[in-house]
Amino acid sequence: DKLESCQFIIFGGTGDLTHRKLIPAFYNLLDQGLLPEEFSIVATGRSIDNREEYLASLYQSLHKFVKKEIKEDIWNALQKKIYYKSFDILNEGGYQNLKKILDEKSQSKARRIFYLAMPPRFFGTIVSSLEKYKLLDFSKPSWPKVVIEKPFGYDLKSATELNQQITGVFPEENIYRIDHYLGKEMLQSMMMIRFANLVFEAVWDNKYIDNIQIISNEKVGVGQRGGYYEKSGALRDMVQNHMLQILALTAMEAPADMSTESIRAEKIKVLKSLADLDIEQIDSYVIRGQYDVGKIDGEEVTAYWNERNVADDSSTETFVALKLFVDNLRWSGVPFYIKTGKRLPNKVTKVIIEFKSSFHPSYHKEFNDLSPNLLVIKIQPEEGISFEFNAKKPGTKAKIVPVKMDFCQNCQVGFNSPEAYERLIHSVIIGDQTLFTHWDEVEYSWRFVDQIAQAWSESKSQLPSYPAGSNGPKEVEELLKRDNRKWWE
Ligand code: BG6
Repeated sequence: DKLESCQFIIFGGTGDLTHRKLIPAFYNLLDQGLLPEEFSIVATGRSIDNREEYLASLYQSLHKFVKKEIKEDIWNALQKKIYYKSFDILNEGGYQNLKKILDEKSQSKARRIFYLAMPPRFFGTIVSSLEKYKLLDFSKPSWPKVVIEKPFGYDLKSATELNQQITGVFPEENIYRIDHYLGKEMLQSMMMIRFANLVFEAVWDNKYIDNIQIISNEKVGVGQRGGYYEKSGALRDMVQNHMLQILALTAMEAPADMSTESIRAEKIKVLKSLADLDIEQIDSYVIRGQYDVGKIDGEEVTAYWNERNVADDSSTETFVALKLFVDNLRWSGVPFYIKTGKRLPNKVTKVIIEFKSSFHPSYHKEFNDLSPNLLVIKIQPEEGISFEFNAKKPGTKAKIVPVKMDFCQNCQVGFNSPEAYERLIHSVIIGDQTLFTHWDEVEYSWRFVDQIAQAWSESKSQLPSYPAGSNGPKEVEELLKRDNRKWWE
């Protein structure tokens, strides 16, 4: 991996994301020797006046968000690379000032990475001002780069507009659209699990697989993000991006090679193949819900509508479960069940592959409760894989019990998976777009999700609620029961 010298410019440098994820990631990258020799971070923001104050606030956050003890020498080396500029992105004079600082800090005007850790309504203004005030030098291929945080639009229309604003300045190969789930270790492992193991890939289709479940449960509520979440809800916040990305990696064909282009091409095909939904029947296979008061870890928590910046009569969903199909030869007839929500009992993300229940005919006659084979890819908090199969119950003449082979990656002593943002920032620096979403992926995901959002906006049906700490609205069990299936949790 080549580490070319570069400048990293953060818009939204005083925000939550910078404190919680970006600076801790830089700290860890520096600790591992994964930052270029010549490197600087120029952070801009509004709520802090000067560099000293800014560094002090970062130092505090490091202690809070880096999971190990902070090494003072690493922090000292890092802070020397960080500059701060109080900056109002709407004030045009600011860009000329910023340009001066950037030019002073580095000779190379061509290798700049602009990180937009801001609400998307500012993206257009920022990129056009960067161009207008000549902060961009496109003389080196693939440089400068722009990194964009979610949400990428509110629907296909707004996402397209946003994309036009950005691609009006930056070519696609310079754009890094973040989906932080792609930085998670086990999702990166998904292709290897599939394509480096004959025993899995040989049975990875509708002949052998009964259904696939993609689950991402959260314990947390909406916290301080009510303002954003009210307009988003679980469908836009989780399904449009993270859940459909997991699905794309699970369902894609083997790429021609391991290049970014080939991998993305296969993911795009999956998202393009998502079957249209029958809008008339939407309530029977897309379940939504909103958390009510309840208990999490024994502690009383408030209802969603009572959270900060949330309307008392809010109809925003904090839970979605749905059944969808991928309309291609490999997956024809195999349902994919997706489920995600806030204020559920456990934090867990996993993919469950349920194989068909075809056994020796005489076993079918003799045992009526044989378990299907299950392959579980555990994404978080535990990272690993388990495989469940049937064996003879020891000590009996002919009883069958399900048994489990379990590989836990992050249970190994001394093992510490890199945080998603570490991997992602490093990828930006080395110019690897594999873990970022191409516009076509965003487009097809919105096309799919828009159908649901549209149907909901016209629907007269009530939004069910579920007690915080429960497994979601009761309709969610029904979704699978109707198909003679169950959630494997
Ligand atoms: C974010 C969503 O993209 O992902 C949040 O906006 C959600 O609402 C978060 O809590 C979940 O991420 P993780 O890494 O904790 O599973």
